[in-house]
Amino acid sequence: MLAMIVAVAENGVIGKDNQLIWRIPEDLAYFKQRTTGHVIIMGRNTLESLPFLLPKREHWVITSQLDYIPPYEGVKVFHSPEDAVQAAKDLDLAYCIGGAQVYASLAPYADRLYVTELHQSFEGDVEFHVHEQEGWQEVERIPGAGHEGISYDFVTYERKI
Ligand SMILES: NC(=O)c1ccc[n+]([C@@H]2O[C@H](COP(=O)([O-])OP(=O)(O)OC[C@H]3O[C@@H](n4cnc5c(N)ncnc54)[C@H](OP(=O)(O)O)[C@@H]3O)[C@@H](O)[C@H]2O)c1
Repeated sequence: MLAMIVAVAENGVIGKDNQLIWRIPEDLAYFKQRTTGHVIIMGRNTLESLPFLLPKREHWVITSQLDYIPPYEGVKVFHSPEDAVQAAKDLDLAYCIGGAQVYASLAPYADRLYVTELHQSFEGDVEFHVHEQEGWQEVERIPGAGHEGISYDFVTYERKI
């Protein structure tokens, strides 16, 4: 199964200048709890925004550059979203962790979305709107505790049958 996990501002913004905008400890813990032990699939920009490899997760990166050498050892390189999806086919669970380009191209293959929905808008340069599209139904919504005045929900969407 392919899942996507993302934290989204009320206006759809997910990042700025190739960085995350907010640091919400409860959301980071949620991301860690969900993704630990699984393959995480990401675009080159997101990989290069990581300060280090995330422990206990296998990192797969998508790039069009045939000679791409990842900044960290052990990262598996794919040259199209379809190649990554094909390789993930036999896994119980793999997570697409972004960013905007890769969320958009992997969305047709995703079975489930884990969306942390912030109840506040932010200024940024990349957005995520997959969960607003037809074809997804909300199956769970758990309010977060809030952090520095930002409130948010942890929401799960599944594909409508
Ligand atoms: N809020 C969140 O939950 C969250 C999560 C993750 C990331 N983000 C944010 O999102 C931003 C990064 O997103 P982004 O959209 O700029 O970049 P991205 O999706 O991480 O990476 C884009 C790169 O992936 C490769 N790629 C994408 N589609 C491809 C395709 N069809 N075939 C081959 N390669 C492909 C390309 O690499 P090449 O140029 O090498 O070909 C492209 O430049 C950052 O601000 C990050 O902090 C937010």
